[in-house]
Amino acid sequence: MSDPIDLGALPQDFAWGVATSAYQIEGAVAEDGRSPSIWDTFSHTPGKIAGDETGDLACDHYHRWREDIALMKELGVSAYRFSVAWPRVVPGGDGPVNRRGLDFYERLTDALLEAGITPHATLYHWDLPQVLQDRGGWPLRETAEHFAAYASAVAGALGDRIEDWATLNEPLCSAWIGHLEGMMAPGLTDIAAAVPASYHLLLGHGLATQAIRAVSPGARVGIVNNLSTVEPATSSEADADAARRMDGHTNRWWLDPVHGRGFPADMREVYGVDLPERTGDLDTIAEPLDWLGLNYYFPMVVTADLAGPAPHVRRVRRLHMPRTAMDWEIDADGLEDLLVRLTQQYGAQKLFVTENGSAYPDLVGPDGQVHDPERTAYLERHLAACSRAVRRGVPLAGYFAWSLLDNFEWAYGYDKRFGLVHVDYRTQTRTIKSSGRRYADIARAHRRSVSRRAA
Ligand code: FCB
Repeated sequence: MSDPIDLGALPQDFAWGVATSAYQIEGAVAEDGRSPSIWDTFSHTPGKIAGDETGDLACDHYHRWREDIALMKELGVSAYRFSVAWPRVVPGGDGPVNRRGLDFYERLTDALLEAGITPHATLYHWDLPQVLQDRGGWPLRETAEHFAAYASAVAGALGDRIEDWATLNEPLCSAWIGHLEGMMAPGLTDIAAAVPASYHLLLGHGLATQAIRAVSPGARVGIVNNLSTVEPATSSEADADAARRMDGHTNRWWLDPVHGRGFPADMREVYGVDLPERTGDLDTIAEPLDWLGLNYYFPMVVTADLAGPAPHVRRVRRLHMPRTAMDWEIDADGLEDLLVRLTQQYGAQKLFVTENGSAYPDLVGPDGQVHDPERTAYLERHLAACSRAVRRGVPLAGYFAWSLLDNFEWAYGYDKRFGLVHVDYRTQTRTIKSSGRRYADIARAHRRSVSRRAA
C-alpha cells in the first residue's frame, strides 16, 4: 500500500519512538522507598493544578509497565523515551542509592530490550527530590553536583544496556516556568532565583554528561530543549526587539552555552541578574554532545510589553491559526525551520525530535474505539516536516511522539490528552486511538520501503 505522506527522505535506521515521563505516568509515589519530589508538593498544594489533581496514581505505569510495553509493540515502535525518577533512585537527593528504585528501571530496560525496543533514558524530567528543594533547589550550585552523582549512579547501573541518555528535559520549563512564572514546581516568581536556576541546570547538564561518560564510555549523551520559532507581531522596531528578546529567552539562552558560545550578553542585560559563574563552568556546560533533542509544540508571535516582567514581551494570539486543546497554534513548518536552524546555526551532527504531539478531548466511542482525526493530521503534518528537513540536510535520527499514553499533564491535570493510547483513569483501561494505529502503519510502511530499497 502506498503512503500518501512523503517520508521518503527519512533515513533507513530512523527511530520511530514514543515518549513519556516518570511523574506523568508512574504513580506509586510512596512505593519502594521513593521520596516526594517538588511535583508531589506542588500538585498537593490546593489551586496549583486544574481540578486539584495529582500524579499519585497517574497511569499506574509502575505496576502496568508490562502491559505498556506490549502496547508499544503493537504500535510497532522501535524506541522508547522515558525518564528516571531521581527521588526513586536517590531518595535523599544526595547520598545512598535506593536499590529498589533502580530495580524498577532495570526491569523496564530489560523488558524493552527483549521486545526489540531501544531505551532512551532522560535523567531529569522536572522531579527534583523535595529534600533538595528544601535546601535551596536549582538556584544552588550543590544541586548541580548532586544531579551529576545521581546520573552517575543510574548510568553505572544501566550503562551496559542503555546507550542513549538525555540529561535534562526542557530546562526552560524548570527555570522560567518553575521559578519565574510560577506555573510549575517549585512555583516561584522570582527572577533572582530563576536566573541562577537556569545556570545550575545547565551546569548540572555538563557535570552529568561527564559523569555518565566516566562510568559508561560508550554512552551517547544529549540534552532536550523545547524551542519555538519566534516572529514579531508587527513590523515595528519595538516588536522586532521583542522577538529578539523572546528568541533569547526561549532558544538562545539554552542553546548558546551548550555550544560553547556562553550565555547571550543581550539577555544577561535584560535579566539584570549576575550569573554565579566560576572559572571552568562554561567549558563544563559546553561538554560536546552526541546528539541534540528538540521538543516542538508551537510557534510564537510576540509584541513588546515593556511594563511586564523580563523578557518584557507578550504573546499574541493569531485568530486564523488552527489550535489544539492546549490552545497551542499548529504550525508544522516551525518544526522544519527549527531543525534547519539547529543544523545550520549550531552545527548539530545528530538530532532527535524528542517530543511532538497534540492534545484533543478524546472519547471512547460506542464502538469501543477512539477516533482522533485531528491528532492523526497533526502527526502526519509534523512527520512530513521532518522529512522535508532531512531533504534540506538535517541529520535527523528519530521522532518520539508525545505521548505513548494520556497522562498527568502538569498544571492541566488529566484533562489534556496527548496519548496515542487513551487511558480511562477510572479503570486504567488502555485503548489504542486511531492516530496510534496510523502511526504504526506509517512506521511499518517506512520500514518496508527501506527493506525494498535495500533489496
Ligand atoms: C512538554 C513536556 C512534556 C509534556 C508535553 C506536552 O513541555 O516535556 O512532559 O507535558 O510538554
